Amino acid sequence: MSSIPTLLHLLFTTILLLAIPTLAYQPLSDTQLKAVPGPIESDFDIKTGALLAPILIPRVPGTPGQAKVQKHFVDFFTRELPEWEISWQNSTATTPLSGNKQIPFQNLIFRREPPWTKERGPGRAALLTLVAHYDSKISPEGFIGATDSAAPCAVLMHVARTVEGYLKKVYEQGVAEGLGKEGREDPGREMGVQILLLDGEEAFKEWTDTDSLYGARSLSYEWENTPYPALSRFKNPLRQIDLFVLLDLLGSADPGVPSYFQTTHWAYKNMATVESRMRALGLLESKPKNPFLPEAGKLNEHFGRVYVGDDHQPFMAKGAPVLHMIPTPFPHVWHKIEDDGEHLDLPTVRDWARIVTAFTVEYLEAAGGEVGAGAGTGKEGKGEDTAAKQGTTTDGEEKAGAGVGKGP
Ligand SMILES: *[C@@H]1O[C@H](CO)[C@@H](O)[C@H](O)[C@H]1NC(C)=O
Ligand SMILES: [Zn+2]
Repeated sequence: MSSIPTLLHLLFTTILLLAIPTLAYQPLSDTQLKAVPGPIESDFDIKTGALLAPILIPRVPGTPGQAKVQKHFVDFFTRELPEWEISWQNSTATTPLSGNKQIPFQNLIFRREPPWTKERGPGRAALLTLVAHYDSKISPEGFIGATDSAAPCAVLMHVARTVEGYLKKVYEQGVAEGLGKEGREDPGREMGVQILLLDGEEAFKEWTDTDSLYGARSLSYEWENTPYPALSRFKNPLRQIDLFVLLDLLGSADPGVPSYFQTTHWAYKNMATVESRMRALGLLESKPKNPFLPEAGKLNEHFGRVYVGDDHQPFMAKGAPVLHMIPTPFPHVWHKIEDDGEHLDLPTVRDWARIVTAFTVEYLEAAGGEVGAGAGTGKEGKGEDTAAKQGTTTDGEEKAGAGVGKGP
């Protein structure tokens, strides 16, 4: 008799403990989800689309195409998102094909953070970091790389523009409340977004540690070695990355993106839930055989040592938490001349824009809303300590790990 209440009590306590994180995380309501603006269909037209069409050209580092797409990105942010700070991170390197000639690799960084953290100097805002590479592969000749990664770049432009409408309100509210003034602080709301459009992801000859990821290696190195002033919240720009979400090889029909990393499975689950809820609400237009993100229920013991070599690697090795949005298997058109605008599945492209936008709004809502900083997102904590801890874990795993396939 007496053991039953005890058991029940125990059970109840356990359920309660398990339930707390779930209760604390506030997903967007159905109404909020429906209100997230979708892409304008014409933006993703492959011939005339304001976002996508200008990227569908060869854009090999050191060629005129590189400068053309850079101008497209800079013009877009200058014209449509003047609140976003634009910066470059440039480097040069020789490649196996260039002989002694230095090839330019130029990363673009578009950043939006709360006005009150900006006023207090750099290194205060945690930054949700959304990433794609904009360079295209040098061969086969005329290669466009529509999924690799023109479409992901266009998706991120859409995300930036949509999220700005949301951020403007949140930041105005923070300013009205006097955040950052007279010591009024709320670190949980010191959250911004940055978009990294990286250069030189592709190998020139054959994928190796030195012939690939030119832009990502240079940027992650520079960020790790550029300390912020002593009184900043974060030690350097690398540590400011709250989550590194890398989009790659997206735009073919029926993608299946696995959950690659146990450390960020919480974020994967959030994105997968956004997808399934949007489908149930009729907010997506593609009709895939399976969900784009089919592994929300993946068990801990099923996380293996398999990952895909890509721009996240140098950041992850330095401690950034990574969500890698790349399908396995790769699209059929991968690294073939057919990876062009005509072979994109535009409903899938636009659905990615919808899903990533809603995920981003929800992420920022969790940081800026009532629940406080990342509460219940499943993260262990925030800021320096977490970054350091995750650094050790991921580093170890990566050494043990085996890369699959070639880099994308
Ligand atoms: C980086 O390169 C771009 C493109 O050539 C140029 O416009 C920009 O001023 C450079 N920025 C820096 C910081 O060197
Ligand atoms: Zn590629």
